[in-house]
Amino acid sequence: MAESMKGLHRSHRCTEVSSSNIGRQVTVMGWVQKRRNLGSLIFIDLRDRSGLLQIVFDEPKVGSEGFAKAESLRSEFVIAVTGTVEKRTAAVNENLKTGDIEVIAESIRILSESETPPFPIEENSQTKEDMRLRYRYLDLRRPDIQRNLMMKSKVAMLLRNFMAQEGFLEIETPILTKSTPEGARDYLVPSRVHPGTFYALPQSPQLFKQLLMCSGYDRYFQIARCFRDEDLRADRQPEFTQADMELSFVDVDDVIDVNERLLQYVFREAIGVEVPLPIPRMSWQEAMDRYGSDKPDTRFGMELTDVSETVKGCGFGVFTGALEQGGSVRGINAKGQGAMPRKKIDKLVEFAKGYGAKGLAYLAVNEDGSYKSSFAKFMTEEELKTLVEQMQGEPGDLLLFAADKNKIVWDVLGALRLELARELGLMDKNQYNFLWVTEFPLLEWSEEENRFMAMHHPFTMPMEEDWDKIDSDPGAVRAKAYDIVLNGTELGGGSVRIHQDDIQEKMLEVLGFTKERAYEQFGFLLNAFKYGVPPHAGLAYGLDRMVMLMMQCDSIRDVIAFPKVKDASCLMTDAPGAVEKEQLEELSLSFHRKDFIDVNH
Ligand code: AMO
Ligand code: AMP
Repeated sequence: MAESMKGLHRSHRCTEVSSSNIGRQVTVMGWVQKRRNLGSLIFIDLRDRSGLLQIVFDEPKVGSEGFAKAESLRSEFVIAVTGTVEKRTAAVNENLKTGDIEVIAESIRILSESETPPFPIEENSQTKEDMRLRYRYLDLRRPDIQRNLMMKSKVAMLLRNFMAQEGFLEIETPILTKSTPEGARDYLVPSRVHPGTFYALPQSPQLFKQLLMCSGYDRYFQIARCFRDEDLRADRQPEFTQADMELSFVDVDDVIDVNERLLQYVFREAIGVEVPLPIPRMSWQEAMDRYGSDKPDTRFGMELTDVSETVKGCGFGVFTGALEQGGSVRGINAKGQGAMPRKKIDKLVEFAKGYGAKGLAYLAVNEDGSYKSSFAKFMTEEELKTLVEQMQGEPGDLLLFAADKNKIVWDVLGALRLELARELGLMDKNQYNFLWVTEFPLLEWSEEENRFMAMHHPFTMPMEEDWDKIDSDPGAVRAKAYDIVLNGTELGGGSVRIHQDDIQEKMLEVLGFTKERAYEQFGFLLNAFKYGVPPHAGLAYGLDRMVMLMMQCDSIRDVIAFPKVKDASCLMTDAPGAVEKEQLEELSLSFHRKDFIDVNH
């Protein structure tokens, strides 16, 4: 029944047909979105990736055989229609790009039929995501997903354009490689030829791009697939794409300069958003102090206030206790939320506990100036007044306080600030607030491992003015590292790299690497640096995240053609899957766990 393409050529995509074609013959091909029978006329909405076009079948024009075919059409049949473009006489559809025209069919071929799809192919689908992902090939027909993937393609093209114009070379780096020290868990690939050994899939091209700088390529760029075995979130996938770059003979400002122009160009050309330059910069310390986050959403205020000094001598044990432990007391002012019911406040307390808080102290300023508070009874009138003043509390405001170690206070209030903003609708989706966060700490103390870890990676350059503290106070050394943040999401990050062996050696020592282990893991890099290495720096964007923010999607899955779900599986292919015993034997692999899936049983 399915007919062939023989002798037939598509002349237009559906929405390429316009009123300028009136009176002309066109041939269009696509999927049947909808069929309506109106007595002697049959109307079809034909869909392709460009959009919809109305086709009219009138028996005298298309012939009885053609009309019979039209009568047999159902949703998702693939058809080709040749006909003449006419101005719509009735029912002009303002919502449709092709709403003022229609094609009067003269012939039709049914190129393939379709079973009834498990869900309707429509914009803003109400179908559960599990179902959509199981039939992703159908889900991908939906216009919103198609727009996202088309945008991703466009953004990749724009990035390539820009980078080429700026003298960057696109160079591929290996997928089968060795573990890169990026901090997440590696995906491993067993070697058949070398039993018992494994390749690691790259978490990023980091070490290779540094080697390319050693080799003199001076400006490298790649749209690179990266793999990280980490817990998934709305903005994380186990495999994702970076727009990755590295430059030689540069310092922080040079990298920022290229990237500001890149962002301005890409956002302007892709979505018509004008990014004002220079993009504001904020040190990591300031970001934490003001927003409790290293990726602040600056579209709204509700900034943190450190009230430690004010509550130092007060009678509230929760506050003074935290200060005695070396922590701090900070608060946020939820403007106009003073009348929030107790139940809702309790919910906020529970929310805070989810971020490690032991509690959340609150103080509502009533309209008559009195307070409703969980701790007012422990403080004098004077102390309360000073506190409220410092928080710029006015009648009708709700003040929320956390007292703990700095890290917990920041986490709790940072998260609470976002939660309240979401609830109160303070985040304007059409506003694009970019921010550079700079001067990250070089090291981060790991409670689990009881040692310092690199906050970015072990090749990140410390700030010259802090380097003398590396022995006395390693935690206070700042790095030449920077993140680009957009509306509270980390869009990209990078750093200046260490190119001096004495600094690199010291850094590895502080991180607890023995010389042997360092050479075992990335000796190729350390060796390469012995043969003349230029100062270099770079940055990588999460391309999926960039498109997700441009298209205002809630999930990164909406901008990836075949994404994985929370447990890192693919609902469509059922990956990961078991393999044949022979394959395991070939790889010299066997399993000890009882719960592994043996396909032979
Ligand atoms: P980093 O680890 O910060 O830096 O990664 C760069 C950017 O990649 C994106 N990203 C992710 N996107 C989706 N899913 C994930 N699981 C995921 N993980 C990271 C983020 C992030 O900002 N080699 C360094 C870069 C450099 O120093 O030049 C690196 O990989 O948007
Ligand atoms: P409690 O003394 O535990 O009854 O706590 C009194 C008030 O202080 C309650 O509103 C608690 O939620 C709050 N609270 C307890 N621990 C903390 C903390 N670490 N930071 C801020 N508020 C807290």
